[in-house]
Amino acid sequence: MSDERADRARTREFFGARAAGWDAKFPDDGPRYAAAIAELAPGDGAFVVDAGCGTGRALPLLRAAVGPRGTVLGVDLTPEMLARAAAHRDTAALLLADCARLPLPDAVVDLVFGAGLIAHLPGPAAGLRELARVTRPGGRLALYHPIGRAALAARHGRALTPDDLRAEPNLRPLLAANGWRLTAYTDAEDRFLAVAERPPAAGQDRQR
Ligand SMILES: C[S@@+](CC[C@H](N)C(=O)[O-])C[C@H]1O[C@@H](n2cnc3c(N)ncnc32)[C@H](O)[C@@H]1O
Repeated sequence: MSDERADRARTREFFGARAAGWDAKFPDDGPRYAAAIAELAPGDGAFVVDAGCGTGRALPLLRAAVGPRGTVLGVDLTPEMLARAAAHRDTAALLLADCARLPLPDAVVDLVFGAGLIAHLPGPAAGLRELARVTRPGGRLALYHPIGRAALAARHGRALTPDDLRAEPNLRPLLAANGWRLTAYTDAEDRFLAVAERPPAAGQDRQR
């Protein structure tokens, strides 16, 4: 089995076993997701991808944010997670796929919402590059978690180390090398939110 296939199999095994209990494990996160999505304000008619949508708990909030003219696409690699997300299929289209290989054209997405995603991407650089490919110039990527890095490390019983992918000094260059410019970064006890923008295509800001 190739490394890539083995990584995907490990992700599916890990999250497949957790799908049934996922929503019950984090019953109080809803208002935090709602606040983050309200702040991101993708806007009426926007095309939003929930990358690594899991059980789909953000999908109704994203639908409310883009309205009936918008598009919400939930993507996840783990069938058991996506099966749970099917409960929200009146709010979003669902796709069983790897975020690093999306069957989407270039530059069509306005906002990629990635909650709890980046630490689980076996190759974060390739995943970020693919998300950049499908996002239009000026479109955004939001890397979100309903608790901050320190609280998350404590929850997992580990110390926060300087090599943490989501630490700003690591994340900023990782994003920059893969098609994104970090524009906002919050790491508080009750939220992690890093927002990056897809820079305008060369010469675009001079065009009228
Ligand atoms: C920590 S869970 C977060 C789920 C959901 N976003 C939430 O906030 O509840 C991470 C999810 O990302 C999915 N995932 C991990 N790697 C992925 C990849 N390469 N492509 C698509 N989904 C992926 C997992 O299957 C899992 O459902």
